[in-house]
Amino acid sequence: MNILYKSEPERGRIWAELLAERAPEAHFRQWPDDGDPAEVEYLVAWQPPEDLRPYTSLKVLFSVGAGAEQFDYAALPPDLPVVRMIEPGLTQGMVEYVTFAVLGLHREMPRYFRQQREKQWLEHSSLPAARRRIGVMGVGTLGEAVLQPLLALGFDCAGWSRTPKQIAGVTSFVGTEQLNAFLARSDILICLLPLTTATEGILNADLFSQLPPGASLVQVGRGKQLNHQHLLDALESGQLAAAVVDVTSPEPLPGDHPFWHHPAIWLTPHIASQAQPESALTALLENIRRFERGEPMHGLIERERGY
Ligand code: NAP
Ligand code: GLV
Repeated sequence: MNILYKSEPERGRIWAELLAERAPEAHFRQWPDDGDPAEVEYLVAWQPPEDLRPYTSLKVLFSVGAGAEQFDYAALPPDLPVVRMIEPGLTQGMVEYVTFAVLGLHREMPRYFRQQREKQWLEHSSLPAARRRIGVMGVGTLGEAVLQPLLALGFDCAGWSRTPKQIAGVTSFVGTEQLNAFLARSDILICLLPLTTATEGILNADLFSQLPPGASLVQVGRGKQLNHQHLLDALESGQLAAAVVDVTSPEPLPGDHPFWHHPAIWLTPHIASQAQPESALTALLENIRRFERGEPMHGLIERERGY
């Protein structure tokens, strides 16, 4: 098994050590040391090398992340399988981040932190979780996982996806025709959609106007889904109360961007979740085994639908 890793070098070093322990028969190289490119079978990358022609034995392209929209599909061989990362460490990171964000918004922490800065000792009545309506856009691997602790905490949960879901305790809304109804009952909206032509720019003024007044946003999908000016306008008008934003376009934001110091925005530098080398390697090896046995791999991208 010949693997070429092309991503963050320090993580690559960890992958190399783990692989040597777990699959000593595997040949692992880290970009730019690709040895003989004609021997590379599996490429694990955030971005592949520009010219893939020398990689004549390439069998699968694995994304190091949960997203795989960063690839230029027109430049990839049309029949090359592309696989996104599904692994428990990455899922757990997202569960932690979204639970933190929802609890922070539910308990109005942006407001209380503002009061702290202004030395105001002021209490406001709080809402029980059962009366806080959570809406998760994208009920895939991550969306379904983040719903579990929110349900356990007693929130009123719904999800929106392209195809219907049956998750105990979660109301399923489907497709553009049910988007309005889903938004109308989302006090805290969480975006966990992949970036596709259908989801680019989806978090915009029109969508915000359909949320209950004073709703909040957790944006953990991809930067290009959010219109920054529309978010600022919605916060200014009070249509939105607060936002937790982990992904932006561009990344990083320029130094003079208003998100940096906006009192109602919590901004993090795309850290909601990351693949964890130990569990990610287990997932990779399992997928390579599945591929070599002719079984379907987990996380295979369907190019026509864009995710
Ligand atoms: P996934 O399993 O492919 O789930 C995607 C979900 O989105 C599915 O439920 C899908 O519906 C739904 N969807 C896609 N297009 C839609 C549309 N046009 N209308 C309605 N629903 C639509 O992906 P995942 O593994 O959960 O990851 C989701 C995304 O999270 C990634 O693509 C990435 O952008 C983001 N992410 C961010 C971070 C971070 O650190 N901020 C980390 C990891 C991932 P169906 O189920 O009906 O197909
Ligand atoms: C991070 O954003 C990922 O796609 O894993």
